[in-house]
Amino acid sequence: MTLTVQEKVRLSDWVSFKTGGEARYFIEVTTVKALQEAVAFSFEKQLPFYVLGGGTNMLVSDAGYEGVIIKMNILGRTYVASTTEVTLEAGAGESFDAIVKETTQKSLWGLENLSHIPGTVGATPVQNVGAYGVEVADLILHVTVYDVVAKKIIILDNTECDFSYRHSFFKENKNIIIVSVTFVLSLLPTPKLSYADIATLPADKQTPQGIRNAIITIRSAKFPDWNVVGTAGSFFKNPLITRDHAKTLLAKYPDIPTYSSPDDMVKVSLGYILDKLCGLKGFSIGPVGLYEKQALVLVATKLATTNDINNFKKIITEKVYLKTFIHIEQEVTEI
Ligand code: EPU
Repeated sequence: MTLTVQEKVRLSDWVSFKTGGEARYFIEVTTVKALQEAVAFSFEKQLPFYVLGGGTNMLVSDAGYEGVIIKMNILGRTYVASTTEVTLEAGAGESFDAIVKETTQKSLWGLENLSHIPGTVGATPVQNVGAYGVEVADLILHVTVYDVVAKKIIILDNTECDFSYRHSFFKENKNIIIVSVTFVLSLLPTPKLSYADIATLPADKQTPQGIRNAIITIRSAKFPDWNVVGTAGSFFKNPLITRDHAKTLLAKYPDIPTYSSPDDMVKVSLGYILDKLCGLKGFSIGPVGLYEKQALVLVATKLATTNDINNFKKIITEKVYLKTFIHIEQEVTEI
């Protein structure tokens, strides 16, 4: 197989923030074999590689990427049914929402709460994508990966992926490339209606399709149009703070929404803090701002550079620290 290697490709065309410089090399891969060759190419050039999915949760440096961008485009959907469950193995390059749409249309339960999340299937385990009371970790049976050091395809069970809030084994193991994800879906009803906005969904709408429609309505009200502005959804993670810290904070600001979390930590709502405590909803500096309908969502106009976004990020981080003594962390990946 001969790879098509492009040079000096403008990465702003490939990421949802629409900022950033050029990739030294850019290779699109549609098969495992091509993926192996693309990795071998980067080794040969003694350059790093980065596997690009939908580019919807990342920031590219204005200086570009001095390495090989491997655009993951491995497709494929294989369903296997048993009496109560169906497994779906989806290629890493598939659009995640396309598979959510298809599985809800087939009345399969599991992915409906994750409707309208942009990006590719292969990106979802990396940061353990989650929304409206469900995380992909809840649905993943196993992940098939290419280990670039061992030069082997291996299968990692759910427990081997070390999933937690917006985190997984894949975040720290860049030598492991996801080629497909196998989800386990239910034929029996398993509605997850804990999230306040869907808790009151009428009984006749409590179907995979009905829940998907409700989620799409909620998301349309909270998120900007990705075709119009640069964004990556939530820019920061909801912070995990110690119980003592939470106690002090809540004594002063009792209405901050909190969520229980493992390891004796408390997760607090950063959207609320940015909005109600810091008054930053809709706040902007030049071409970058916090979205007027959801303060955790950072938006950038066409004029923005990655540098503008990073400067704005620092100012927000500082303002939150001064108000709450919380060091916030970004959710988006930077290259
Ligand atoms: N809130 C405000 N003002 C705001 C934003 C939020 O007061 O400007 C309050 C809300 O009223 C609510 C709470 O903060 O009480 C939480 O808000 P929301 O339900 O909108 O969720 P979030 O915590 O801000 C997280 C995920 C989203 C996911 C939603 C829904 C993270 C970093 N973000 O946001 O995921 O869609 O929950 O489950 O965990 C993403 O990761 O990119 C993402 C969009």
